[in-house]
Amino acid sequence: MKQFLSVKDAGDVPSLVQEALDLKENIGQYSDLGKGKTLGLLFLNPSLRTRMSTQRAAYNLGMNVIVLNLDKDSWQIEFEDGAVMNSTKSEHIKEAAGVISQYCDIIGLRSFPGLVDREKDYTEQILHSFKKYCSKPLISLESGTRHPLQSFADVITIAETSTQAKPKVVLTWAPHIKALPQAVPNSFAEWAVATGAEVVITQPRGYELAPEFCQGAEITYDQDAALAGADYVYVKNWSAYREYGAMPQVEGDWLLTSDKMNATNHAKVMHCLPVRRNVELIDALIDGPDSLVQVQAGHRVTAAQTVLKKILETA
Ligand code: CP
Repeated sequence: MKQFLSVKDAGDVPSLVQEALDLKENIGQYSDLGKGKTLGLLFLNPSLRTRMSTQRAAYNLGMNVIVLNLDKDSWQIEFEDGAVMNSTKSEHIKEAAGVISQYCDIIGLRSFPGLVDREKDYTEQILHSFKKYCSKPLISLESGTRHPLQSFADVITIAETSTQAKPKVVLTWAPHIKALPQAVPNSFAEWAVATGAEVVITQPRGYELAPEFCQGAEITYDQDAALAGADYVYVKNWSAYREYGAMPQVEGDWLLTSDKMNATNHAKVMHCLPVRRNVELIDALIDGPDSLVQVQAGHRVTAAQTVLKKILETA
């Protein structure tokens, strides 16, 4: 594996998931693979799980880790070619990426979308600038449009817990108090489809995801119909793609309830975390016996370690 920016870098997803489950059985098996190698984790936005799980995964492989909060602890970076840098941005990506590439053997980057300019976010200017100017393998720690390490952990979780070859997996929109990126649902949709699951996405009108991420999924505005017979319900809020970054008014009550869950096939409940309790998902479902949220978070280490191992083996 030369990079990990999307499901396209995963190869055959069921095989990669199996490799991850095998690795989980013997997490210390490759503890010397990364000896003498350094992972750089660059954050332009906050993180708990991604930061800690990727560090833990690197340590499991014997790597050193450098974490840099690029948004707070470094110089502000200019990404435009030909910019006249006479304002707040002190360092150009060309220099920064070249320098970081000398200190690190693998580089992870988190860069959220601005949710103002759709074209800018969906062309992934920041991620692609790093890719262009870094000379080392790049891992997305969540970008403007995707969160592949999260989605990989999610499909590992489904594979580990599923009793069916083709489970029904429902991704449902949930309420929130502020506009959130589409990266997690975009990414989850394409990874879940790649596992061969039956994937249904349900959202209120106005919250349709970008069509390129939903290929192979059924899409419905009827949450009750979507939930019928579901084996997994992935709960997530996202802001509008079409009216980009907006939170159009919603008809009906989209908060998942225990009553609504009665229509499912004793479905497991998933969320990437962090979750706003009783806004996005109710206490009873987060804390209930069918909740997989902690299992998903645990598999963030499995996912990151599998990806780092494959990149180290390729380098
Ligand atoms: N799910 C996830 O990526 O969590 P963090 O934002 O805390 O890393």
